[in-house]
Amino acid sequence: MNEFYQKDIISIKEFDKEQLEKIFVSTDKIMKLQPIERREISKGKTLAYLFYEPSTRTRLSFDSAIALIGGNSLGISDISSSSTQKGESLADTVKIMSIYSDVLVLRHPLDGSSRFAAEVSSKPVINAGSGTEEHPTQAIQDLFTIRKEKKKIDGLKIGIVGDLKYGRTVYSLLYGLGNYDVTVYLISPESLRIRSDSVYEIKKRLSFTESTDIEEYIDDLDVLYVTRIQKERFPDEEEYLKVKGSYIVGLDLLQQMKNDSIILHPLPRLDEVSIDIDSTKNAKYFEQAEYGKYTRATLLGLILNKDGF
Ligand code: CP
Repeated sequence: MNEFYQKDIISIKEFDKEQLEKIFVSTDKIMKLQPIERREISKGKTLAYLFYEPSTRTRLSFDSAIALIGGNSLGISDISSSSTQKGESLADTVKIMSIYSDVLVLRHPLDGSSRFAAEVSSKPVINAGSGTEEHPTQAIQDLFTIRKEKKKIDGLKIGIVGDLKYGRTVYSLLYGLGNYDVTVYLISPESLRIRSDSVYEIKKRLSFTESTDIEEYIDDLDVLYVTRIQKERFPDEEEYLKVKGSYIVGLDLLQQMKNDSIILHPLPRLDEVSIDIDSTKNAKYFEQAEYGKYTRATLLGLILNKDGF
């Protein structure tokens, strides 16, 4: 039996290097298949999405991914139009949606929400972002992008810049990178350093160097992963205003980088990556978003098929 069959995807910590490589090889395969062949993979299966927070890429790439492999989707992208407004609990909503579907995709503002949903759901649950905790399918997409664009992950020097305190993609990426031999630089304002309660967990997997100065290591990086300052997660707007616009990656900074370095961003972006960068060969964030569709189609295909595809 395929080891991902009916598996909940709650944390990237549950994946080792060998499992990630299996997903990447299957993603390479799915990208090469003819549309008619892809549509056989999960023909007639239904994905349900339940988003308690806004999303463009994650929800729509799951929508697109299930269609790519022959399935269909239904769901709630705006909870104000659901019975949550009448007071229905997350548990009951998940139980009901798992009756109508084969796999459930959940985004929720609370840490632990996806794990809780997996406990009450009769169908596999995929975490599409839980509070400030994790966004595992984003990390799979990010690692796939690095592997695809740099032809390897081991041996790379990777800088992660921006909101390292509240950015859940950062935590999942760091846990995922812990499977590889990489040099990691974490660049943020002092107040947005990686959360102290997660440092122990991250240090078990990899070592990193912290800095507040984006120029300190910029000429040595193979990958610069830029993140948005997450205004919506600050308890105090004054604190947000102090760090707003701390780092802006523009052509001046790009000139200091290696010729073959790549710039990634989970998106959405505000002003942290200048639009001048978009047309350079180093900008890979739109490719990264496209790979998200294929990595998610792969995960769904593996979760929904006993013998894989
Ligand atoms: N990267 C990401 O999670 O984007 P969305 O919030 O648009 O889904």
